[in-house]
Amino acid sequence: MTTTAPHTTPAAGAIFPPAFRWGAATAAYQIEGAANEDGRTPSIWDTFSRTPGKVRNGDTGDIAADHYHRMRDDVALMASLGLTDYRFSVSWPRVQPTGRGPASQKGLDFYRALADELLFRGIRPVLTLYHWDLPQELEDAGGWPERDTAYRFAEYAELVAGALGDRVQTWTTLNEPWCAAFLGYADGVHAPGRTEPAAALRAAHHLNLGHGLAVGVLRDTIPTSAEVSLTLNLAAVRPLTNSPADVDAARRIDALANRVFLDPVFHGRYPEDLLADTADLTDWAFVQDEDLRVISRPLDSLGINYYSPTVVAAGSHPLPSPWPAAQDHVRFVPAPGPRTAMDWPVDAGGLYELLTRLRDELPDTPVLVTENGAAYDDYVDPSGAVHDPERITYLREHLEAVHRAMEAGADVRGYFLWSLLDNFEWAYGYGKRFGMVHVDYASQRRTPKDSALWYAQVVASGGVPRE
Ligand code: FCB
Repeated sequence: MTTTAPHTTPAAGAIFPPAFRWGAATAAYQIEGAANEDGRTPSIWDTFSRTPGKVRNGDTGDIAADHYHRMRDDVALMASLGLTDYRFSVSWPRVQPTGRGPASQKGLDFYRALADELLFRGIRPVLTLYHWDLPQELEDAGGWPERDTAYRFAEYAELVAGALGDRVQTWTTLNEPWCAAFLGYADGVHAPGRTEPAAALRAAHHLNLGHGLAVGVLRDTIPTSAEVSLTLNLAAVRPLTNSPADVDAARRIDALANRVFLDPVFHGRYPEDLLADTADLTDWAFVQDEDLRVISRPLDSLGINYYSPTVVAAGSHPLPSPWPAAQDHVRFVPAPGPRTAMDWPVDAGGLYELLTRLRDELPDTPVLVTENGAAYDDYVDPSGAVHDPERITYLREHLEAVHRAMEAGADVRGYFLWSLLDNFEWAYGYGKRFGMVHVDYASQRRTPKDSALWYAQVVASGGVPRE
């Protein structure tokens, strides 16, 4: 638990080390489209987005930003912005339809071609194996609450590692397992839309297990020089006051948001307080001997995604919620500050808090900020430009927070802006635009926003210019 840190602009501007990695991030289901092409089968997100009432406006990822067909142009766009790294995810049902058995060569070919195109342009591919698109057939067999899904994930990891191990240097097993487990199985606002808190805890463990098994597979398959990582959306949790009750509410959410992943992955144990807090829901007997040894296989780096802080107080909140067993103990308090189009508060101090916490708790683990960014109601004006000054301010403040954390000793190696392109923002559909590049979905025309041009300057100069 941390307190709010002051946040100032360095007088000389924030200059990053020459080797700092400057990237942008996307995810397969959010940009690719081509949902029914080349043997791809439905994922839980195809099913969920077709379920009435689940995604705003009935939007689906069927076409999305049509990246599957525009990949080369999109990589050229990245090159024109000077990115050093590109973080993308592999669609599981595209490369292993139905989640079992042999790979689809066409599916693998797409990602091989993407990696080759990136390398040709001098951009490092940063590959995420799982950004939430579980093959529907595996959900039909029980999904992440079932232990077998972890083994299926390891098998899929082996197929991808075999096909791309020679050209991808940075591998991430999971993106935000918190969302996959707790938004998907407890809150139900994400696919597969289940509201079963006990199942969500099982899902969290099996995601952890799948991660550990995949780390083992990667270490056996790809060159030893490769970097193996995991991306967590750690919560910057703050108690509303210093009262013991508010501090205890923050402890509870810290366990359910952060330590349920950090502790098994980095320390080979589940937190005692988490087990006690959730004892009415489960005895955690699904954690088998050896699991924690597998889950805690060493990593080369940790990715963190950060958008805004989480303020809590003692109290209660309604169900369904993504927080198993916390409904009678925790109230969520809107943090102050300006808002993005998601209604998320803008507060770069939370990123500083997380990075300095990791400096203290995991001093030997380099960190990548694998997502950070903001949605605003952007549009192309009559002159053909997209003016998004709020996004520039957001990015500036958060990059300065990263820089300040580095000056305070945090070992941060790179920053990935979410997102390269406007895309399918999950339950919000296409209504929320996170891209630094605007996408007109009717024509699929790409227009770099002012923030993209600003970010390109940051990348080119290796630092955040003074305002
Ligand atoms: C993160 C997701 C990413 C995107 C951003 C806004 O939780 O990893 O796919 O939706 O939020």
